[in-house]
Amino acid sequence: MAGDYSIKGYTWKCADGAETAEVWKASPEAAAATQPVMAKLRELEKLGAFKGNLFRPVFSYNFKGYPRHHPINLAAFPQRHVDFDMHSIEPGYGFPIHLHDYADENYLVIGGQGKVVIEGEVLDADQHDVFYIPPGKWHCAFNPAGNCAPFHLFIFQTPRVSDELNELGYVEITKSQWDKLGLPKKKWENRSDERK
Ligand SMILES: [Fe+2]
Repeated sequence: MAGDYSIKGYTWKCADGAETAEVWKASPEAAAATQPVMAKLRELEKLGAFKGNLFRPVFSYNFKGYPRHHPINLAAFPQRHVDFDMHSIEPGYGFPIHLHDYADENYLVIGGQGKVVIEGEVLDADQHDVFYIPPGKWHCAFNPAGNCAPFHLFIFQTPRVSDELNELGYVEITKSQWDKLGLPKKKWENRSDERK
């Protein structure tokens, strides 16, 4: 039966899209319309891989004090809906407080110790801790200057946070840019405590 699979003693059933493929086959015009796009994607995929390693990145952005490592070449997968990378934040470094108006973001602490800031709350970030940052919330992470080891933070975003989306009008803005524009402060910014 179509949809039955068997590998090394394991078998399973699934809807494998075969029927959809038959529909495309019956419509040469529709198949032809998708062909250039799919051909381009398959070409690009040859530049990527499905498996990577956090500590053997295929490329890195060398931001001073917080290099960003890409275990997989995401540029090879322009159709993707997620972005992910790892920041190795040196003691005394961090990234700017910023927000995204569209993306869910998760932080996963791979190693070291640092701090994650979400809406003015400074949270301890230890190995294997996980953070969720909803769209529209100010956030950042940093490695306190007194530490002696890098703070390895895996970051996962969906939809992807990318320059292309910014060009389409999605907003990613740093807090200093926001303040410069004179945009309204949030409640936590009006507190008089040390977390301001
Ligand atoms: Fe972010």
